[in-house]
Amino acid sequence: MDLKDQIKSKNIPNHIAIIMDGNGRWAKQKGKLRAFGHQNGTKSVKQTVETCAELGIKNLTLYAFSTENWNRPKSEVDTLMKLLVSSLKKELKTLGDNNIRLNAIGNIKALPKKAFQELSEVIEKTKENNHMTLTLALSYGSREELKHVVKEICTKVKNNIISVESIDESVINQHLYTHDLPDVDLLIRTSGEHRISNFLLWQIAYAELYFTDVLWPDFSKENLYEALINYQNRERRFGKTSEQLNKKVNV
Ligand code: FPP
Repeated sequence: MDLKDQIKSKNIPNHIAIIMDGNGRWAKQKGKLRAFGHQNGTKSVKQTVETCAELGIKNLTLYAFSTENWNRPKSEVDTLMKLLVSSLKKELKTLGDNNIRLNAIGNIKALPKKAFQELSEVIEKTKENNHMTLTLALSYGSREELKHVVKEICTKVKNNIISVESIDESVINQHLYTHDLPDVDLLIRTSGEHRISNFLLWQIAYAELYFTDVLWPDFSKENLYEALINYQNRERRFGKTSEQLNKKVNV
């Protein structure tokens, strides 16, 4: 049976997040510059986005540039920003054809003007699309996001807009950059690293984690199918017992 046919349509994750890692090592293995790895990484981005849309995944979030990535050599940061702008220009049609809404999380005002403008334009042009939401995490760091949330909530308390007593999980959720997204169901990281790297720390509280040795530019449709099949064969208990989930006991 084909891998794709093994995916159960009833148990498709609502939200997949991906740490796309390994572009640099992929290029090095080929004796090429890191930029070549990033260029080829954009091909995997396109294919993954299209495959997720085809499978009916409602939310896909990609870690495209972290707050820590600003510390890379300027030439590499410039390459990544140029790739972002060219991909946004090139793939606007793909987003339209697949009815995908583009969204961004992170300190996007820190992006170079051109990248910020292009991003804002594509977000605006795709805002009515509703088959899937593609979120790009750009200049994103989970600790920065949580700092932003704490500041916003404290300001509201100080100005008597909300009370300390009313602060619960839903209030925190409402102030996250991801306020309009559901929790992550499946987090994938490529390239053999087993780390979260400051990505969606609050939102992955109950996510299933999937690590693969495949480097991001090699991440294929089949690799995505494998991750989904693996996810579907897990039991998500959310703190309950297996028996409770299978309704074997009345507790
Ligand atoms: C990690 O590989 C990848 C990144 C830091 C950036 C991801 C960017 C892309 C896939 C291309 C542009 C994206 C969009 C959305 C247009 P790495 O450089 O850390 O690889 P390494 O760990 O092997 O050095």
